[in-house]
Amino acid sequence: MDSSRVSFVMCMFIACSMLVEVVGGKSNVHVIYLGSRQRTDGTEKDLHRKLLTSVLGSNEKAADAIVYSYKWGFSGFAAKITEAQAQRLSELPEVIKVLPNTMHKMQTTRSWDFLGVPHPHAPSSSLNQSNLGDGVIIGILDTGIWPESRSFNDEVLGPVPTSWRGSCDWGSESGSANLCNKKIIGSRWYINGLLAEYGPPPNTSRHYEFFSPRDADGHGTHAASTAAGSVVSNVTFEGVGTGNARGGATLARLAIYKVCWNMLDDGVCTTVDILKAFDDAIHDGVHVLSLSIGGGFETEELDGLAVGSLHAVMAGITVVCAAGNSGPSPQSVSNTAPWIITVAASTMDRAFQASITLGNNETVWGQAIYTGKPIGFESLTFMEDFLILENYSTSDRGCDAEKFRLIAGKVVFSSMDPTPANQFSALLVGEKAKSCHGLGVIVAKDPEDDLDIYYHDFPFIQVDYEIGARILHYIQSEKSPTVKLSPSQTLIGKSITPRVAFFSSRGPNYVAPAILKPDIAAPGVNILAAVPSIFDKADNGYAILSGTSMSTPHVAGIVAILKSLHPDWSPGAIRSAMVTTAMVYRPLPYPLLAGPSPQKHADPFDMGGGIADPRAAAEPGLIYDMNLTDFIQYLCATGYENSSLSQIIHEAQCPRTKPNILDINLPSITIPGLENVTTVRRTVTNVGHPKSVYQVEVEPPLGTAVIVRPSVLVFGRGISKQSFEVEVTATATEKTDTGYYFGSMTWRDGLHSVRIPLAVRMATRSLFSTPP
Ligand SMILES: *[C@@H]1O[C@H](CO)[C@@H](O)[C@H](O)[C@H]1NC(C)=O
Ligand SMILES: *[C@@H]1O[C@H](CO)[C@@H](O)[C@H](O)[C@H]1NC(C)=O
Ligand SMILES: *[C@@H]1O[C@H](CO)[C@@H](O)[C@H](O)[C@H]1NC(C)=O
Ligand SMILES: *[C@@H]1O[C@H](CO)[C@@H](O)[C@H](O)[C@H]1NC(C)=O
Ligand SMILES: *[C@@H]1O[C@H](CO)[C@@H](O)[C@H](O)[C@H]1NC(C)=O
Ligand SMILES: *[C@@H]1O[C@H](CO)[C@@H](O)[C@H](O)[C@H]1NC(C)=O
Ligand SMILES: *[C@@H]1O[C@H](CO)[C@@H](O)[C@H](O)[C@H]1NC(C)=O
Ligand SMILES: *[C@@H]1O[C@H](CO)[C@@H](O)[C@H](O)[C@H]1NC(C)=O
Repeated sequence: MDSSRVSFVMCMFIACSMLVEVVGGKSNVHVIYLGSRQRTDGTEKDLHRKLLTSVLGSNEKAADAIVYSYKWGFSGFAAKITEAQAQRLSELPEVIKVLPNTMHKMQTTRSWDFLGVPHPHAPSSSLNQSNLGDGVIIGILDTGIWPESRSFNDEVLGPVPTSWRGSCDWGSESGSANLCNKKIIGSRWYINGLLAEYGPPPNTSRHYEFFSPRDADGHGTHAASTAAGSVVSNVTFEGVGTGNARGGATLARLAIYKVCWNMLDDGVCTTVDILKAFDDAIHDGVHVLSLSIGGGFETEELDGLAVGSLHAVMAGITVVCAAGNSGPSPQSVSNTAPWIITVAASTMDRAFQASITLGNNETVWGQAIYTGKPIGFESLTFMEDFLILENYSTSDRGCDAEKFRLIAGKVVFSSMDPTPANQFSALLVGEKAKSCHGLGVIVAKDPEDDLDIYYHDFPFIQVDYEIGARILHYIQSEKSPTVKLSPSQTLIGKSITPRVAFFSSRGPNYVAPAILKPDIAAPGVNILAAVPSIFDKADNGYAILSGTSMSTPHVAGIVAILKSLHPDWSPGAIRSAMVTTAMVYRPLPYPLLAGPSPQKHADPFDMGGGIADPRAAAEPGLIYDMNLTDFIQYLCATGYENSSLSQIIHEAQCPRTKPNILDINLPSITIPGLENVTTVRRTVTNVGHPKSVYQVEVEPPLGTAVIVRPSVLVFGRGISKQSFEVEVTATATEKTDTGYYFGSMTWRDGLHSVRIPLAVRMATRSLFSTPP
């Protein structure tokens, strides 16, 4: 293990996470959160000013300090105030919480991933063409949109839904009247929170910006077109092929809320701006909100995103957020509130393969996106130590004589340790080899999710260690080894096993371990979608990106489809439908896998219920619905009291005895500290045939016995809801193991399988026993 490289990469990550924390701590803009909206006569704003005046002393000072009033979806305001003033505000009885203006980051794996390799087969969800999100409005909180993209044509769409109350604000853009259409029906932009805290974005060639909803980055356009892009036929690219590009819910409409700005490497979005976008989106009448945004390390139940999404969900809006790209370490998942649908990233049953023919005519296959000319036969060299290629940075594209001698005119083969640091630096190695006039790179490493697509014009081929060993054997047995490399082919189908992406953030949930996170997985690796045409490498305005940012809009699109099929389903019902029908073993040929170990099967902390299957989710049979009672239970269980609770949720009260967080009606059961026996309650609602009989089937987690009472549920004669108890007993005698074990519980009626994941960790008695 070479420690120098590890520290190099780790520093980059720590620097990023420190940015979030440090900036958040120094904030001079705060959100004063007051709970539900108090007034309906438009005077909420006066209330905010009055409250701030009581601390600042004058009405004028208060008016100057307010950045936004939140007055539609919930009540509160953002203001430029000192820490001391914030402290005094937080002591007022009206104030539930003062939130710092945290800097959130957009969730892509890398900012340089915008390097286009349009692909003939767009990420297709193979959905029923008759109901692709018709009438449903998806709000996207991101970097804005490139409205001229072909993906946002409105040719087949009917009029804008009459329920829509939003607007189209394009700032000072000329011809802005025409930038919205029947696909993009709303556009707003929010920068005051950023300006108040950090000043304007630099607007350099590297961080170009528009003061309008126009996307200068690509992230938002990619997300919007993934969720609801129209069908665009005949997207071609350099001979790779021809095909359609389309979003999931092609008939859904888009409402754009630009909250993220091109400033630091991955773009930034502040809590203050995000909350204003939530406030407006609730007013405007969106049905789904998609946020490919993560916070820093979460430590509280109610941070900014959790507050905004709670009020959105209470208004019936389904909120879909990225799990984050901090995997595969445990407890890395963000957006953990139980009312949010938190999305992990998986690969697809698709692979880009390039052939490697050794000088002895043996052909092996590796993973690559390479669309250039065939290479070879050319000289093949083994480079034992990639360290020589270290110290790469964007300003260091040079190549010294020593490196040039080793690399120029050759195809380089090397091998890497399966550590996260090395997964990251593979990209750097390829970049360096290219700048030293190498002809190509073959690297043996752990099966990788995230192709280094940067090299579409340079062969950068990844192989597993077994193939790597064969290549090495060949090199060592030849005096002058040679190799031929062919451009990539696309393989689609059953022989390709989907995996949970290496970078996808993992559970358990740090804030509330009994709430399973992530909820669901969706494709987030090598996703083709629209980007602004200002990217020179984005041929035809399309590019391939990877990240939970890309899986999130897939789920938002699926939510739109489910919402158009079942307009009366709540956000909880929609989540349940996706989780209980997700792909885990079936119809996949193999169990889902999850890095870092190649043989590890994906568990609920990797993927929640599994990979979302829109077709099955449309007819789930039973749902685990959630309503206000569950949110109240969560807030009471996590320490909120009657006084603030009734402000957050009108007239809500905590029950006399503290509710059990395990009883929140989630489509999952997670028991973080099982002592001897724990009993958990759930209620299911029949949304299938009114007369049906379900029987339970349990796969108990290792070391437990699980009994479900009753084990048969009969629906009919006006009975559409049934409750049951799940009794989990620790059977293992040895209770010192601190790990989680997983299982599942499935209700079957012969037609439907309604499966939820179980996760149990034994309480270690030695830790919990108190001295006499
Ligand atoms: C598509 O949906 C429509 C309406 O729900 C239904 O009639 C049709 O059978 C479905 N088609 C397929 C292929 O599932
Ligand atoms: C950024 O700079 C360009 C010119 O280089 C200008 O056209 C554009 O309006 C500027 N954007 C902002 C947000 O200032
Ligand atoms: C697709 O594009 C190619 C090249 O751009 C063109 O020759 C062909 O006619 C197009 N096909 C269709 C169906 O539009
Ligand atoms: C590889 O195949 C080519 C063409 O089929 C043949 O000419 C060549 O001799 C073969 N080389 C070896 C080492 O078998
Ligand atoms: C990388 O840079 C550091 C500091 O500049 C230097 O100490 C180190 O030797 C360099 N490593 C290589 C492999 O060049
Ligand atoms: C929520 O659902 C539960 C179970 O169906 C029900 O008992 C409760 O009354 C509901 N609460 C609200 C506020 O509708
Ligand atoms: C909240 O208020 C209700 C009704 O007044 C009361 O029964 C309950 O004990 C209170 N809960 C707490 C935790 O104070
Ligand atoms: C668990 O079982 C042990 C031994 O059977 C008993 O001493 C202990 O009190 C039990 N703990 C609980 C919480 O029931």
